[in-house]
Amino acid sequence: MKTTYRCPSNIALVKYWGKKEGGIQLPANPSISLTLSDLFAETTVQVMGANSSGKASFDFLFNGQPRESFVPKLQDFFARIYNDYELLQKHHLLINSTNNFPHGTGIASSAAGFGALGCCIVDLQQELYPKPGNRQQEISRIARLGSGSACRSVYAEPAIWGHHSEIEGSSDEFAIPFAGKIATEFSQMMDAVLIVDAGEKKVSSSAGHGLLKNNPYGPARFAEADRHLTELCDALTAGSEHRFISIVESEALQLHAMMMLSNPYYILMRPNTLAVIEKVWDYREKSGVPVAFTLDAGANVHLLFAGRYQQQVLNFIQTELLEYCQNRQYFCSTTGSAPEKI
Ligand code: PMV
Repeated sequence: MKTTYRCPSNIALVKYWGKKEGGIQLPANPSISLTLSDLFAETTVQVMGANSSGKASFDFLFNGQPRESFVPKLQDFFARIYNDYELLQKHHLLINSTNNFPHGTGIASSAAGFGALGCCIVDLQQELYPKPGNRQQEISRIARLGSGSACRSVYAEPAIWGHHSEIEGSSDEFAIPFAGKIATEFSQMMDAVLIVDAGEKKVSSSAGHGLLKNNPYGPARFAEADRHLTELCDALTAGSEHRFISIVESEALQLHAMMMLSNPYYILMRPNTLAVIEKVWDYREKSGVPVAFTLDAGANVHLLFAGRYQQQVLNFIQTELLEYCQNRQYFCSTTGSAPEKI
């Protein structure tokens, strides 16, 4: 018995940065993201022989080859869900995962990877040991236990993760889909990921989250994210491109500001990250095209724009930005897909 799922990566508009004390992978502030339909992981999980070892038993292949460096994170993930899953208690699993974007481009693959794995695990568990419940929410909950931001990859709609007093149903445990009606200004949003630096980042996201603990600037940052989420939801329904851009760009800069305000401090942006940001500001002012930049925990720059500006923005990238990209690489993705069973 086996199952295969394709799950998109996602890019946060309001960033998750910092974990709550107590609990496992609970966010210090709420966040919202768009799924990146064309940048995805595809994972197959096959149920093999019996397992009676008292812990999860699995083999993991990445692109068909063993990948030892991923195993500790998978072991932690399975240990966290072991008690809830007869599938893990009773069976040995073979996991085979691939990404459709090249590994080593600096594009985060853990959100797509744990999203796809979560889909497979819930699917097989439901086949073998069915229980009633909200399946998407359960996938989101367990994906979170693999990699926090992965919990937002399970919806076609923008996904909100983390409790927010004004958002009904919002939770620290799992993401929920944005319930409002999104204005036409934001239809068919696209993300062009400019690969400024393809290398492994010097400080991992887990270490970065950890440095928010006891950071005197932390509480102010968490309050800002909370406020930004309210404002962004309003901007999405009101169709305010101007407010969307100012919140999204402020969020990207606050994320990196928190890295600089950590102890020890560090910087993940590269000179070309700043060069691209300057170019984007200049282009937006001159052309009037509402394109926003955002950043993940790395040097690469994401450009967000509505589908109707695709030709203009791609032309801008090709004529003015490729010189700042490593090997002139960039990836363009549509947004708004849910995971799919293959
Ligand atoms: O899910 P993690 O632990 O890799 O954290 C990711 C955090 C950011 O990508 C920087 C922001 C976000 O909300 O996705």
